[in-house]
Amino acid sequence: MNKELRKVVIAGNWKMNKTATETKALLAEMKEKLPESNATILLCVPAINIGTAMDAVAGTQINIGAQNCHWAKNGAFTAEISADMLNDFGVKYAIIGHSERRQYFGETDETVNKRAMACLEGGICPIICVGENLEEREKDITKDVIKVQIEKGLAGFTAENMKNSIIAYEPVWAIGTGKTATAQQAEEVCAYIRGLLAEMFGNETAQAVTIQYGGSMNAKNAAELLAMENIDGGLIGGASLKADDFATIVSCVK
Ligand code: 13P
Repeated sequence: MNKELRKVVIAGNWKMNKTATETKALLAEMKEKLPESNATILLCVPAINIGTAMDAVAGTQINIGAQNCHWAKNGAFTAEISADMLNDFGVKYAIIGHSERRQYFGETDETVNKRAMACLEGGICPIICVGENLEEREKDITKDVIKVQIEKGLAGFTAENMKNSIIAYEPVWAIGTGKTATAQQAEEVCAYIRGLLAEMFGNETAQAVTIQYGGSMNAKNAAELLAMENIDGGLIGGASLKADDFATIVSCVK
């Protein structure tokens, strides 16, 4: 399988932004401005706004996703949300292991693995985030860091689990900083990730997996990043909060 046959997923991560009222307004603008696309369009909104967002995009090409999912089916886990709760809204995607979760909320490769497994068991596609920080890049240990995150994050996965997941490569130093990885830097790591997946699950599976780039992707740099052989979409923060910019990014998908 080659790039042309893989599913392109353009996903927005709204992080902790927008009230329910603002969510409705921004989605109304998105509905007007987004071009028709062969890509899967996804917006991962704060959990409290998933119902509002689902109603707002009903009947359109826009999918609504979550930013997290707990590993247990239910129970005493204050403030967490379960796959069943997401399923009840028809949510099909959840971001797992975002670097902000790892940095500020104690997420580890082990909890990432448990959360991703719970998504898969619940029929939700986990978007599993990996990426090195600035110090690791400067020490030239990016690939070692990614290898550990991939191997531990995907521990126990079958090839089928892998095909039902997405990997997002998000270098931490490029998130919200305006510093994008160059298309070559992003491609190098995404290709490395695909190589790891080939070792773990076989080449056919590795070729089928959507690998996104994330980190200051915007209306100006998206076309170059999305044209790379191993970059099958984007996970977009700031630019997904602006309908015009997000529409331009979607229009870059060939
Ligand atoms: P920015 O696009 O704002 O850099 O955020 C990227 C990100 O973290 C998406 O998950």
